[in-house]
Amino acid sequence: LENGLARTPPMGFNNWNAVRCNVNEAFMKKTADFIHTRKINGKTLQELGYSYINIDDCWALPKRAADGNLVVNKEKFPSGIDGMASYVHAQGLKLGVYADSGSRTCDKAGFPGSFGFEKIDALQWAKWKVDLMKYDNCNQPADDNFDRTVARYKAMGDALLAAEKQTGQKILYSICQKGDRGISPFPWSPEVGNIWRTTSDIRPNWARVKQLTAKNIPLHKYAKPGAFNDPDMLEIGNGELTQTEEQTQMSMWSIMASPLLIGTDLTKASEADLQILANPDAIAVNQDPLGKQGEQVSNKGGLRVLSKPLKNGDTAIALYNETDAAATISTNAAQAGLLSVARYEVTDLWTKKVTTTSGTISAKVPAHGTVLYRVRAVG
Ligand code: DGJ
Repeated sequence: LENGLARTPPMGFNNWNAVRCNVNEAFMKKTADFIHTRKINGKTLQELGYSYINIDDCWALPKRAADGNLVVNKEKFPSGIDGMASYVHAQGLKLGVYADSGSRTCDKAGFPGSFGFEKIDALQWAKWKVDLMKYDNCNQPADDNFDRTVARYKAMGDALLAAEKQTGQKILYSICQKGDRGISPFPWSPEVGNIWRTTSDIRPNWARVKQLTAKNIPLHKYAKPGAFNDPDMLEIGNGELTQTEEQTQMSMWSIMASPLLIGTDLTKASEADLQILANPDAIAVNQDPLGKQGEQVSNKGGLRVLSKPLKNGDTAIALYNETDAAATISTNAAQAGLLSVARYEVTDLWTKKVTTTSGTISAKVPAHGTVLYRVRAVG
């Protein structure tokens, strides 16, 4: 969507993977404070680019007000959504909220949906100075189909743009449609929203991360500045993921130009988790201004190579081993789409080791692991 936002994939935090419906003001504020102040290798997560503080479902009361407006649950958010926005804005951060395109939000939560209330809600969020809105797809009308899904998402997109005209408040539009019940997010999502989910929900286990990655890889042609595929949020710090697997999620989300939305309780995260989230070189691949999603160069039985052109002429290359055994993964400069020159400098973006090669790019990659390189033609 060309609304001036998401020129590169949005980065920040969303509470869902960490605390689900048990979200409140204290938790969101301590997360914002952490992102704003805690230094990791001399830099805060904010300085590294993480800026959106997104509240997922369960911030509202079960009933709208008499005037039709959504009402914040003041027991959970005493300062209100507007108060949360001023709090994070004072830190130079941005605020996101969640809503649903049907009659009620998902599962047992069941808070009011925005179907039929698009204009009222968009204007309310804009007045509250909300910067991002994630629009879920539960409890759709009974006669729902492809065209009606597109219409529901477009109605909110139009309402957000109208609210911006009225208030000047720009809101990044995050489509959370997930390809539900076989309804494709394409071709409409890149026109209607800034990011759109391409998969069902992530879980903090390897099988799921692997599955979502495989599903998102072929969608590279839809990604561009203003519009990015969203294979769901980061699980680094959560559940059963090993460090190798966490490094794979960070590497693959970076080379796939996916939104980088932290999903763990940062105040409880280990130093190792923080180091993965704070890798400035992986982030630079993700945030490269060309805004291209890396393309798959080869896939030999789950030994995958992806290549992503970068603005300064370098190329990011991921050697991704989705199998359960360590293996050597190889490619070469020509295959990966690099200019033909005599010598390339290869930087491993995790170990920071620099080597040179005349063309072969290869590494032994652990099971579930990813080696992420930045390759520069030097001679
Ligand atoms: C489904 C979405 O995909 C999740 O990210 C989260 O927003 C939940 N709904 C909330 O119910």
